[in-house]
Formats: sequence, C-alpha cells, structure tokens
Amino acid sequence: MITTRIIGTGSALPVHTLTNDDLSKFLDTSDEWIRTRTGICTRQLAGDGESTVTLAVEAGKKALLNSGVSPEEIQMVLVATCSSENYFPSVGCRVQEALGLTHASAMDLSAACSGFLFALHTAHAYIVSGYCRTVLVIGAETLSRTIDWSDRSTCVLFGDGAGACVVRGEETGLIQILQHSDGTKGDVLMANTRRTATPVSSEREGMPLSMDGQAVFRFAVKTVPECIQELMAKTDRSLEEVDHVVLHQANSRIIESVAKRLHMPLEKFAINLDRHGNTSAASIPLLLDEMNREGRLKKGDLVLLSGFGAGLTWGAALLEW
Ligand code: UT7
Repeated sequence: MITTRIIGTGSALPVHTLTNDDLSKFLDTSDEWIRTRTGICTRQLAGDGESTVTLAVEAGKKALLNSGVSPEEIQMVLVATCSSENYFPSVGCRVQEALGLTHASAMDLSAACSGFLFALHTAHAYIVSGYCRTVLVIGAETLSRTIDWSDRSTCVLFGDGAGACVVRGEETGLIQILQHSDGTKGDVLMANTRRTATPVSSEREGMPLSMDGQAVFRFAVKTVPECIQELMAKTDRSLEEVDHVVLHQANSRIIESVAKRLHMPLEKFAINLDRHGNTSAASIPLLLDEMNREGRLKKGDLVLLSGFGAGLTWGAALLEW
C-alpha cells in the first residue's frame, strides 16, 4: 500500500521582526495584554521586496534541498495561500518557474489557516491515485497586507512566512487525514479582495480582515478536539502513542485548551507562535520545519497535525515521521 511521506522540509521568514512593544507605539495595546491573551511576543512582517511568492520560493527551495530530490522529480506544486499578490498567475506557477520544476504542474488552494492540511490531503489523493509520486506542498502568507493596522483586535495576531514539505509516495507516512468545512459560519472571519467597477456594477471596495475573535476561539476549542477524536477513531493508534502534536498556531490558550480536553500533556504540543504569531496556512509546515531541523522529529515518531480557520474550515492528520 502506497501512502504519502514527508521527506523534506523548509521554511522562510521575512527579515523584519515586530515586537509587542513596537506595536504599542502606534496602537492602544501592551506587551502584557498580547502575551497573556495570545502567547505572541514577536512576529515577522514582509518588507519591500518580500512577498507571498518570494517566501514560498525560499521555503520550497530549502525543502527540496532537505529532501535530496532533484527539481525534475517534482510532479506537482501545491501552494496553500489566502494572500497571493495576484489573482493569476498562481503562486504555485511562480514557484515552478523560480525553482525550475520543469516536470511539475502547479496550482494554489484557498482554505485559510487549514490550507496546508487541505493541500497535504490533495497531494495525498494525487499520490495514492498514481497520478504523481513526488509533490511540493507549500503554505505561504503575507496576511500583514490584508490587515487593518488600526484594529488592535486583529493586527497584533498575524505574522508572515512560509513553510514547505516535499512529499512522496512510500510505504509508510500518512496514516489518516480528515478535512471539513462549514460555510454557514463564513462571516466570523473574512477579508475581501478588491474589485473594480464594470459598466453594469459599481465598485465594491475591498475590506481588510475582520474577525469575531471569541466566536473563532469557541469554534477552535470545541471542533479541534472533536476532529482529532474522529481522526484517531479511524486508526488503530491511541492518543497516548502520539509523540508530537502540531496545531495551527493561533493562540496559546487554544493550544492549552485542546491539550486539556484531550487529556494530553502540554509538553507534547509544539509551539512557535510566541516568535512568529499566526502565519495562517504557513504555521504548520513552518513549525514542522523548525522541529525537523532541531532534530526533534525521529524516524517512526507519531505526529498529529490539526488546522482550523476561516471558511470555516478544519482538519487533522496522523502520520509516522
Ligand atoms: O487562525 C485562526 C483565526 N483566529 C483565531 O484563532 C483567533 C481566536 N480568538 C482569539 O485568539 C481571541 O479571541 C483574541 C486574542 C482575538 C481576543 O482575546 P479575547 O480574550 O477573546 O478578548 P476580547 O475580544 O473579549 O476583548 C477583551 C478586551 C476588549 O476590551 P473591553 O471591551 O473589555 O474594554 C477589547 O477591546 O480586550 C480589548 N482588546 C485589546 N486590548 C489591548 C482587544 N484587542 C486588544 C489589544 N490590546 N490588542
């Protein structure tokens, strides 16, 4: 039986780091409020010359190097993003060009903060169907450019970045993966794209990111544990056997609540949101890459992933490293 194995990781972060104290210079906020309510201390923001594309390219390049796979072996590039600079060409096509992935097709996928999990699932479907053997899966965002920088309830939360995994069809790896959506709750977290006027319709202004934070919080702490239980019930493994839990990095209080509801030790939950904030689709692959490079992921380790976000969307995956 062929499944999907992560064989290389990479990540990229913008050069500029903004601390909570930097934010309190132009916002009515404080390091104390942000730290205690979110767990975030610093985040990186894309500056001039940096974009969703440049971050995706850098992360993809590093993942390719880490995997030892040659550019010609990549048969598909899948980029999860909700902050592409262009409607088209896709970020995936830009990555394909920049990395010389001459045998790959490329496309983007939009599922907000669950985007990486949805992209991993899509890659898995292509791999098990036999259409592809090796896929480059990337999560890349510059949400800082969709944010209202005078709205203290959202702008302190997000950071920019990209994470990437080279995945390949092998005998061990992904054990189970799930994805879900509930479009009826779309209004709790949204950002509009800018549209132009036409001869028959007036201009519709783009709106920056808006969020009902408490509604998203309640959704996450209820849905993520339920989704993980649903996932585990489809496997012959137990939560006690899981070595690492890699949740979407939105809020340390969400992570603590999920650990408590699942009766799992908090030490198993990896965290980097204190340094990078919420990087949306990039958060899971960015964290996986940090853990991989630090040697924290040993061959055979059982890793649980879960993402949640706008849409609403959510999902979970269990894999053997
Ligand atoms: O990627 C997935 C998407 N997002 C999430 O997962 C976010 C989920 N939600 C959250 O993480 C939390 O709801 C937030 C961190 C966004 C907010 O925390 P909260 O504990 O739910 O705060 P709140 O919205 O209830 O606001 C409490 C108070 C309010 O003041 P009043 O009305 O009590 O006077 C806010 O105006 O805190 C105020 N506030 C702030 N104060 C200082 C909101 N943002 C800030 C701020 N600094 N940055």
